[in-house]
Amino acid sequence: MIRGKFITLEGGEGVGKTTNLAFIKDHLQHHNIPVVVTREPGGTYLAEKIRHLLLDADSEDISEQAELLLMFAARAQHIKHVIEPALVRGNWVLCDRFTDATYAYQGGGRSMKASIIECLENLVQGTLKPDLTLLLDAPVEIGIDRARKRGAFDRFEIEKISFFERVRRAYLLQLELHPERIKLIKANQPLVDVQRAIVDTLRVLLR
Ligand code: TMP
Repeated sequence: MIRGKFITLEGGEGVGKTTNLAFIKDHLQHHNIPVVVTREPGGTYLAEKIRHLLLDADSEDISEQAELLLMFAARAQHIKHVIEPALVRGNWVLCDRFTDATYAYQGGGRSMKASIIECLENLVQGTLKPDLTLLLDAPVEIGIDRARKRGAFDRFEIEKISFFERVRRAYLLQLELHPERIKLIKANQPLVDVQRAIVDTLRVLLR
């Protein structure tokens, strides 16, 4: 059995991840590719419980170390029970956020050291890396505006604009560090143009 491909979708708040995730899924299925769609934090029973704890805006003050470790605890379960088995079965995995989000939110947003994140990345993932990462990027104000229109804010959405500026910068740094894996999709253009750019980017994997 040929191992499936692992695709991740990244970006700040309100950049259109949900719409484009559905679009990518349809596009892959149109090419007769069996695809498992999942998300982080989450994707298993335990990881979804951890997600709930992490997003709860009424939680006690969560230390940045606890936040980071919970992200990776959820990720370890997700890799073991969903991602790795699917890839071994020959399915493709399409994941809404993965470790680049940790570099962006905990590394950028919370100003934690990249070297610490890298340690946990090596521990939890071993050699597992996405084959392709689509980074949806838009100016922070545009995304925040869109995200806030959705209503009730979670523990991340209540952060200040400066937090999301750091998240965006950290995502763009990831792009600079891994240009062979991460592809930038400009999200502040008409949806047809966003989706045309996505199709172009996916072409390499579909060959
Ligand atoms: P979302 O998937 O609905 O956008 O919400 C998940 C939130 O969790 C989002 O605000 C980003 C945050 N997050 C991190 O801070 N670190 C991570 O590693 C991941 C996967 C998500």
